[in-house]
Amino acid sequence: MRSKAIITSALPYANGEIHLGHIASTYLPADVTTRFLKLRGVEAYYICASDDFGTPILLQSEKEGKTPSEYVTYWNKRDYDDFTAAGIDFDFFYKTSSSENIQFVQDVFKKLDAAGHIYEKEIIQFYCSNDKKFLPDRYVKGICPYCKAADQYSDLCESCGRVPEEIFDPRCSICGATPTKEKTTHYFFKLKNFGDSLSKWLDENENLQKDVKKYVQNWIKSGLIDWDITRDIVWGVPIPLDTAKGKVFYGWFDNHLAYISTAIKFLEDKGINGKEFWNSADIYHFIGKDIVYHHYLFLPAMRLGINSEYKLPDYIPTRGHLTLQGKKISKSRNWYIGLKQFLEYYPADYLRYYLVAINPYSQDDLNFDWNEFTNRINSELIGNVGNFVNRALGFTKKAFDGVIPETEVHDDKDKEAENRIKNLST
Ligand code: 2FM
Ligand code: ZN
Repeated sequence: MRSKAIITSALPYANGEIHLGHIASTYLPADVTTRFLKLRGVEAYYICASDDFGTPILLQSEKEGKTPSEYVTYWNKRDYDDFTAAGIDFDFFYKTSSSENIQFVQDVFKKLDAAGHIYEKEIIQFYCSNDKKFLPDRYVKGICPYCKAADQYSDLCESCGRVPEEIFDPRCSICGATPTKEKTTHYFFKLKNFGDSLSKWLDENENLQKDVKKYVQNWIKSGLIDWDITRDIVWGVPIPLDTAKGKVFYGWFDNHLAYISTAIKFLEDKGINGKEFWNSADIYHFIGKDIVYHHYLFLPAMRLGINSEYKLPDYIPTRGHLTLQGKKISKSRNWYIGLKQFLEYYPADYLRYYLVAINPYSQDDLNFDWNEFTNRINSELIGNVGNFVNRALGFTKKAFDGVIPETEVHDDKDKEAENRIKNLST
């Protein structure tokens, strides 16, 4: 363990409320780890930000008649307030749309380009002639070619969970018209170039979760494909090339770079050299298992592509999904519990205790069950922990007037007990 640490958790999309699933898989494990490291004397900082760019956010803001910037400002604050109410104690919570991140992303792109890791390619995209827009991702809806569910996004079928190669009966999700196919120039990141170096990094890094490493290695063996990092939309980090006017980066190109740019901003504001701190600290990225591909391949490849100017993560704790009463959480099917609402009924510590108690050190799913929640809070948190603290405090008050006296005798038995307690945390 190094004497410095930076802890991040997956950046929440500024596009809807935080629910218990987010807390269980990512924010609470990261918060608990940061508190633990700080108690151990590590100079640890917990950094996060709202993930502001991307097609779904643009589309939703348009539907609500707001500018994307107004829209993400609302969610940035709301998310932060909800996290705070749950005792998630960030040292700094910022946003991917910050000027610092935009600048940083553009610099990284220029370095990747100069190193030969970027190329241009003409591709065919859906285009709506009514709206005069290219229609990436969620701008197109249609029938899933696999499960035949209607009204599914072209980048994800919410019914079967697959990513359709080509959606049937495509429609513009703004006006419902059938889009045409047009040519456009996109930029690609040569992920293919990084197979060997990623594989080496995975092999050498003992701290990465073994269960995840195994299947990431299998993906690498079966061949990586280059990554289209362009979107023809107006909301995103502009691509800093004269030939790319009006084009922005795909959200997954810029969002994880905000781990670094946000940490640097926070550290430099404190008068600390950000890059030096980053490179001498343990770097933790807490994530849920749905974004393994991005964090074990795309993120490290981009850092390798700029000669590890900012070092790669030491730990990527990867957790499973929370199910609710045994069923998959789904916002669209209204099967979830919003964090804000939960905290209107129960103290944050009940939630924190229960979710920590049921969280395995693996990416196995965990289940929120109301009966188990009630039983564990009553018997363990209140019955055992609460009672123990209450008795110890009551005894101290009664016997010593509320002040713990200095030890008169500190013999071998005391030393042994002390050592055993100290060793519990290593
Ligand atoms: O999947 C998500 O919710 C994304 N917003 C996570 C982004 S983490 C990134 F910044 F690396
Ligand atoms: Zn349209």
